[in-house]
Amino acid sequence: MQLSGKTIVITGANSGIGLETGRELARGGATVVMACRDLARAKAARADIAASVPGAKLELVSLDLASLASVRACADTIKNQWPRIDVLINNAGLFPFKKQLTDDGFEMQFGVNHLAHFLLTQSLMPALLAAGRPRVVNVASMMHHLGKLDFDSFRGEKPYGPLKAYAQSKLCNVLFARELARRHAGDGLLSWSLHPGPVGTNIMGRGLVNRTLYRLIGAYMSAKRGARTSVYLASADNIEGTSGAYYDEFLKVKPGSKLSQDTALAARLWQASESLVAGA
Ligand SMILES: NC(=O)c1ccc[n+]([C@@H]2O[C@H](COP(=O)([O-])OP(=O)(O)OC[C@H]3O[C@@H](n4cnc5c(N)ncnc54)[C@H](OP(=O)(O)O)[C@@H]3O)[C@@H](O)[C@H]2O)c1
Repeated sequence: MQLSGKTIVITGANSGIGLETGRELARGGATVVMACRDLARAKAARADIAASVPGAKLELVSLDLASLASVRACADTIKNQWPRIDVLINNAGLFPFKKQLTDDGFEMQFGVNHLAHFLLTQSLMPALLAAGRPRVVNVASMMHHLGKLDFDSFRGEKPYGPLKAYAQSKLCNVLFARELARRHAGDGLLSWSLHPGPVGTNIMGRGLVNRTLYRLIGAYMSAKRGARTSVYLASADNIEGTSGAYYDEFLKVKPGSKLSQDTALAARLWQASESLVAGA
């Protein structure tokens, strides 16, 4: 990997898959902008990468995806400091067991996993397009296969099921990647979604019980292994013809669920997301 001179923004780069993605891309010589909500954890992650990658070019920016004001402020900071962004990796995500709402009143998984990343991508578009051949990598999940879109649930109106909400938000990630690629087919922007594999991380919570439980139900992969598809999509030079596709953890293009291939649904989600962020 030769990424010197490239600027790569990663959300949620302080933990799990995002941390290891940042480490590998920094090893390749990229400037890695770590967009994180908790500065203490972000500084610890930066120190951790710096210790393993001498000379790593690492920058921190504050980003709380549960607040659209924070997303807008973060995008402004990034555009001011790095007017050209080669790769945006929409990686951060969460899986709360109880219903929560974002600052703007959206169901937390829809709000953080999809809507905030939608706004971040749109807000960074001038800097992305300035890179010439920018990439947007969206960390989805095979759980999107269980997902359906209920447009009346985005503000937490319906009874909450954590898995249902997670699957919906991850279906949004796959649809968003496809629609983004379609809309930008003429201007050089490339976009993908991916499943990283079953990776033992903090996604189900930081407590020992949560982490152990998650490993027991099958999250056996290391975060380093789980970062492989994100790193591949951010850096491989032979994949431009697959823009819009969904990749699995073995770097293979997969069709994704039937709903994830529904172009009318992708367009409807895009329009709904546009009006939701405009009104918040
Ligand atoms: N692990 C798996 O098996 C698996 C499988 C399929 C897909 N994925 C996807 O992989 C991605 C990364 O997850 P992970 O497994 O690496 O979990 P993780 O270790 O919990 O990392 C998630 C990251 O997202 C950040 N985040 C959560 N809420 C945020 C917010 N409101 N604002 C900004 N950042 C926020 C977390 O920040 P804090 O550290 O501050 O909490 C953390 O940096 C997610 O999109 C997840 O859906 C994971």
